[in-house]
Amino acid sequence: MTTRIQVVHGPNLNLLGTREPEIYGRTTLAEIDAELARRAAERGVELRSVQSNSEGELVDVIQRAKGWADAIVINPGAFSHTSLALRDALEAVAIPTIEVHLSNIHAREELRARSLTAGACVGLISGFRAQSYYLGLDAALAHVESTRRSHGKRQRKARGQRARDKR
Ligand code: DQA
Repeated sequence: MTTRIQVVHGPNLNLLGTREPEIYGRTTLAEIDAELARRAAERGVELRSVQSNSEGELVDVIQRAKGWADAIVINPGAFSHTSLALRDALEAVAIPTIEVHLSNIHAREELRARSLTAGACVGLISGFRAQSYYLGLDAALAHVESTRRSHGKRQRKARGQRARDKR
């Protein structure tokens, strides 16, 4: 079964490489996407990546992921701290999501320490610069795999029970 991952980059992340490199590093978004694609291909995973500066467009991307993606890796950028709409979209589609941040949002200004979107996610990876995305991909794949494994176990148990009931 092919695993499909939707990567979502929020506002200003198109400027990575030149944007406050002392905070976000010098890796460009194109380089991050290329590395994610390389890692995905190595594991036979289908990966799509979208960047947008607009909140509504990001909501649309999350909604469209339903029925396609097994998991989402998202860096909502500043919308993490403000957007109930993105949180609602993640809750509505109920696709397991890993939130990632290049910087450690807990080691910066207090207003960045709260993420509205993280509450709708499986977990959060923050502070490893570009590596946050690669760790996010690993976490998403590990989550999908363990969910499939426990789902398979439940199905086998139910089949066993039905067989015993028949006897
Ligand atoms: C960021 C952290 C946010 O606070 C900030 O607004 C961003 C980038 C990060 O990846 O570290 O745009 O999401």
